[in-house]
Amino acid sequence: MSRGDRLTLQCGDAVLIVADADDDGLLVSLMPDDFDHDPTFPRSEGSSLREHREAWLRSWLASFRILGAEGGWNLPFVVWSGGEPVGFQVLEGKHFVTRAEVDSSSFLVASARGKGLGVQMRTAILALAFDVLGAERAVTAARPGNIASRRVSERVGYVWTGRRDPVVAGVVRPIDTFELTREQWQRLDHLPVQVDGIVPVGVA
Ligand SMILES: CC(C)(COP(=O)(O)OP(=O)(O)OC[C@H]1O[C@@H](n2cnc3c(N)ncnc32)[C@H](O)[C@@H]1OP(=O)(O)O)[C@@H](O)C(=O)NCCC(=O)NCCS
Repeated sequence: MSRGDRLTLQCGDAVLIVADADDDGLLVSLMPDDFDHDPTFPRSEGSSLREHREAWLRSWLASFRILGAEGGWNLPFVVWSGGEPVGFQVLEGKHFVTRAEVDSSSFLVASARGKGLGVQMRTAILALAFDVLGAERAVTAARPGNIASRRVSERVGYVWTGRRDPVVAGVVRPIDTFELTREQWQRLDHLPVQVDGIVPVGVA
């Protein structure tokens, strides 16, 4: 499980190790069927739904390795627990340079759910965002029926900011939005997080 001096976050039983292209196949194999994919991603003729979703995930992961407009970035992690890879967590910094804002997205394999890992892995990336990188705000979104995702957000302190009804690929796809400010994060108690593998600029 150890990946040398890679950025590693630990919170409770969740160990998050920053992912690179060599982890794409592993993450594709772990992706559960209920992880939302981008409905606008073009589907190759004759591909099964699983093949289509896998192609989308590979393309999404590849996009993380390109610095976005205005210096936007994404930091993906493979989530491990008990020595096994069990999921995925990304810290998204698309609007970090302009707004000091982070977003996030994640999944766990079904057998790893309901044990607190969802809260632990979100806490881990928020500690990195607020306490190490200096974020001012974290935002996230969940489909109205996704109780687990909503509860994870509420447990770490996000507050509901509203419901939007965007039309995506011709279909209304309601989404609840949530926000956690730096001040709220600092006011609340959180599980401890260990961050390893960050070397300050200028230190050999
Ligand atoms: C979202 C997800 C990562 C949460 O992980 P998890 O490890 O099961 O969550 P936790 O065990 O930390 O539980 C967090 C809270 O959610 C609640 N919860 C978890 N699954 C639930 C479910 N199916 N129904 C109702 N509540 C649920 C837990 O009881 C807990 O609530 P509590 O604080 O009131 O006790 C996981 O469910 C998942 O992978 N879902 C599919 C992908 C997805 O929807 N990703 C999020 C959108 S990007």
